[in-house]
Amino acid sequence: MYTVPKLEDYSEAELDRVFAELSREMYRDLAGCNSEADVEAFRVKWLGRKNGILVQISDSWIKGAPKSARREVGVRFNGLREQIEEYAVGSLAIAKGEKTVQLGTATRVLGDIRQRETDAKLASDRLDITLPGIQRPIGVKHPVLRVMDEIVAVFKAMGYSIGDGPEVETDYYNFESLNFPPNHPARDTQDTLFIAGQEQKPVRDRLLLRTHTSPVQIRTMEKQPPPVRIVIPGKVHRNDPLDATHSPVFHQVEGLAVDTNITFCDLKGTLDHAMKALFGSSVKTRFYPSFFPFTEPSADMQVSCIFCAGKGCRKCKFSGWIELLGCGMVDPNVFEFVKHNGYDSSKVSGFAFGMGVERIAILKYEVEEIQLFYEGDVRFLEQFA
Ligand code: DAH
Repeated sequence: MYTVPKLEDYSEAELDRVFAELSREMYRDLAGCNSEADVEAFRVKWLGRKNGILVQISDSWIKGAPKSARREVGVRFNGLREQIEEYAVGSLAIAKGEKTVQLGTATRVLGDIRQRETDAKLASDRLDITLPGIQRPIGVKHPVLRVMDEIVAVFKAMGYSIGDGPEVETDYYNFESLNFPPNHPARDTQDTLFIAGQEQKPVRDRLLLRTHTSPVQIRTMEKQPPPVRIVIPGKVHRNDPLDATHSPVFHQVEGLAVDTNITFCDLKGTLDHAMKALFGSSVKTRFYPSFFPFTEPSADMQVSCIFCAGKGCRKCKFSGWIELLGCGMVDPNVFEFVKHNGYDSSKVSGFAFGMGVERIAILKYEVEEIQLFYEGDVRFLEQFA
């Protein structure tokens, strides 16, 4: 709060001096205005109705002046007031969005204020565009996803469509409709992770983490009458402890072909072609008797060892063959569950297969430990860039 001094000496020389002083101070204040808040402080200080400097001069200097000097004080007071009005009031009015007579001056003053604000902002936001940029390495497809896509592409080229299904699955789709009857020991071959708190539901409705992608076979046949040719890539879960080749979460690609007159020859030809596409044309396949509840007959397909070309090495345990996937002809009992949708086992037949993606990736890239796929260590992953 600025208070004007008491005036004792009303000589013209002293009046000139004090008013000149005030005028300089006013211009200094105006020049220091850098924001609308500053302009408001200026207004209060000089024009404030209660205690602004003009009011103080009027109350103190004019009213306290001897009669003979009153005119001289008044003239100088008016001069100061005009200066303030010309330079400042206009800018205040503009700042508040009003039109004013001293438009030119006011606009200039306000323009200066705005310019100073812009300059300050530009100075603080300075950007050196000559600095080298921050290089963000471009990511690549994860090797598991890459192999999965590669497998899918091989079948896509043979006219297969691509499907998917839920990872949280019901007992019905994961087991029952795939010909695993309740309490059948075949269920024990798939260490299942069950969702808790399902005991009050009928067994077939209980939820679990799917142990294989095979349930999507049934889901596909429910939605689509034959013929079907489909591959289903996806994530599956098993209650398996982690070791060099097992992980509780892994990926599979399922395949299903149903049509009239599909035979085991079609199965063999299709998978043999797929393995040659994935591992190179010199790879051989063979089919070894096996058991899955949802195929009859069932087979394990083996490929000639890709490390020793079948001669026998440590990787193939000196057998020359590596077991790669499960397959077989769709069991008529499975078709029973989707008979209503055109799957009459006296009219159609089909084959199915399921393969582990990590297993194939491990062979293709000679990865020593399955964990490497999930640890996210860039030193490992960048080898696939
Ligand atoms: N679902 C089987 C598993 O996870 C793999 C499998 C075997 C899938 C035979 C099939 C099949 O479609 O026909 O072990």
